Amino acid sequence: MTLRLLMPQDIPAAAKLERLCFSVPWSEETLAAEAAHPFALCVAAREDGGALVGYGGIRVFFDTAELTTIATAPDYRRLGAGEAMLRELMLQAARRGAARMVLEVREGNEAARGLYAKLGFSAIGRRKGYYRKPTEDALVMEATL
Ligand SMILES: CC(C)(COP(=O)(O)OP(=O)(O)OC[C@H]1O[C@@H](n2cnc3c(N)ncnc32)[C@H](O)[C@@H]1OP(=O)(O)O)[C@@H](O)C(=O)NCCC(=O)NCCS
Repeated sequence: MTLRLLMPQDIPAAAKLERLCFSVPWSEETLAAEAAHPFALCVAAREDGGALVGYGGIRVFFDTAELTTIATAPDYRRLGAGEAMLRELMLQAARRGAARMVLEVREGNEAARGLYAKLGFSAIGRRKGYYRKPTEDALVMEATL
């Protein structure tokens, strides 16, 4: 598996993955706009020379980076792709001057919460009824970079 920047040619595959992974998926247009946003950085994990395995993104505002999305294709889960992408995003955020990373996660998303806990995130707040389909609280988590 290799990591590189999410490129315009990755967007259709990323949108497909998005629909597999989220009940309220980002469209191709939203993904493309995010990848091109001046404050954003998006990475893609690929099989060597092959399919898109996952992607993730951050936005960096001064000393704070926000994890905007992260997903691994269902067939490739639990093989280290999510961890590799998040570690790279944390490294890149620190290089851009961020001292902390924040994110929101569904309270019941045990896989994502496990990943975030492994990489040093802890809960600092809760947004009641933040998510739709189904309605669920978000935990706000933070890690020092
Ligand atoms: C969350 C997600 C990105 C994790 O990706 P992944 O590539 O499977 O993660 P990794 O294989 O790198 O796992 C890293 C660590 O995360 C934790 N983890 C991953 N899946 C887990 C699960 N199902 N249950 C508990 N912990 C889990 C573990 O600590 C794991 O380390 P370990 O394998 O050494 O125990 C993936 O499950 C996913 O795409 N989910 C759907 C989209 C999503 O919910 N994104 C997050 C939105 S906030």
